[in-house]
Amino acid sequence: MKFLVTGGAGFIGSAFVRQLKDSIVLDALTYAGREENLRGVDCTFVKGNITDYELVKKVVEENKVDVIVNFAAETHVDRSIVNPRPFLESNVFGVVNLLQISKEKNLRLVHISTDEVYGDNEADENSPLRPSSPYSASKASADMFVMAYVRTYGVDALIIRPSNNYGPRQFPEKLIPKTIIRTLFDKPIPVYGDGKQVRDWIYVEDTARIIKGIVENGEKGKIYNIPGGHSISNIEIIYKIGSILGKEVKVKFVKDRPGHDRFYKMKPSIKYDTISIDEGLKRTVDWYRENREWWEPLLGDSFVEEVPWEKGY
Ligand SMILES: NC(=O)c1ccc[n+]([C@@H]2O[C@H](COP(=O)([O-])OP(=O)(O)OC[C@H]3O[C@@H](n4cnc5c(N)ncnc54)[C@H](O)[C@@H]3O)[C@@H](O)[C@H]2O)c1
Repeated sequence: MKFLVTGGAGFIGSAFVRQLKDSIVLDALTYAGREENLRGVDCTFVKGNITDYELVKKVVEENKVDVIVNFAAETHVDRSIVNPRPFLESNVFGVVNLLQISKEKNLRLVHISTDEVYGDNEADENSPLRPSSPYSASKASADMFVMAYVRTYGVDALIIRPSNNYGPRQFPEKLIPKTIIRTLFDKPIPVYGDGKQVRDWIYVEDTARIIKGIVENGEKGKIYNIPGGHSISNIEIIYKIGSILGKEVKVKFVKDRPGHDRFYKMKPSIKYDTISIDEGLKRTVDWYRENREWWEPLLGDSFVEEVPWEKGY
């Protein structure tokens, strides 16, 4: 089976590509995409945007692609609050483009969505979508287009909704790498609101393995929730990281993220095995400690340093 992995130079996408042989990766290399994430990996890299119909079609035809697995997206909720437009372009128009090409070329499309589409509600795969942020609204919109293409055109597409991922190569604007890096520098960690928002964490290599299984055996038109099964509040995870690092964490409570979901709680129709949060965090902390050259060039990024809505948005 020939795979085209869109967004395969990002955090979860590159972990997925590592599980494959001889795949094609198409990625726009936005601020979050890094070609070095694919160093030593058996794949062919094409720089390009999923909104570019002609390019994606050419890559599909030239490589005789059978299945597209789409990770490409704008992914940071904070950025979506400051500027929603790129989220609409990549996460909605980009996905419709991939659906259209899948329809024309008779491909399977596996679309990676998120638990955030349900908002802060307990949710199985049939629960209504109640997104809270521009990010989750864009992801929910894409999911609706996927289901519409299955129903109207019979496209062989399905949706996977993982919970919060963590692990090596996550851009340091996100909570766990941000906490590790800022604690290494003895800098305070900005904590939104009371810090008691609960997230359900899954280690990225577990996600990649589970997605591979679903790509191979999943059913057309189905939705697959992948909860990590390790729910913990933001403030607790920050203190856990401090204790793994053997350092005191400095916490700075700041104005809460507008629209901030209090929790995510997905119920899956299939149960998956995942490693414990303590084991996953240890592996993650070790990776960031040992790979400073990966994250040091990213430190100037304002989302690693600042709390965007404190300046207005
Ligand atoms: N990280 C999480 O906790 C999490 C949880 C659930 C679901 N997801 C979903 O999983 C997917 C991957 O997330 P991630 O954390 O690896 O994201 P990421 O931000 O690390 O990577 C996204 C990748 O997509 C690329 N990209 C963005 N827009 C593109 C476009 N228009 N065309 C081509 N490439 C483009 C970027 O260059 C980057 O390589 C996303 O769809 C996200 O919504 C993420």
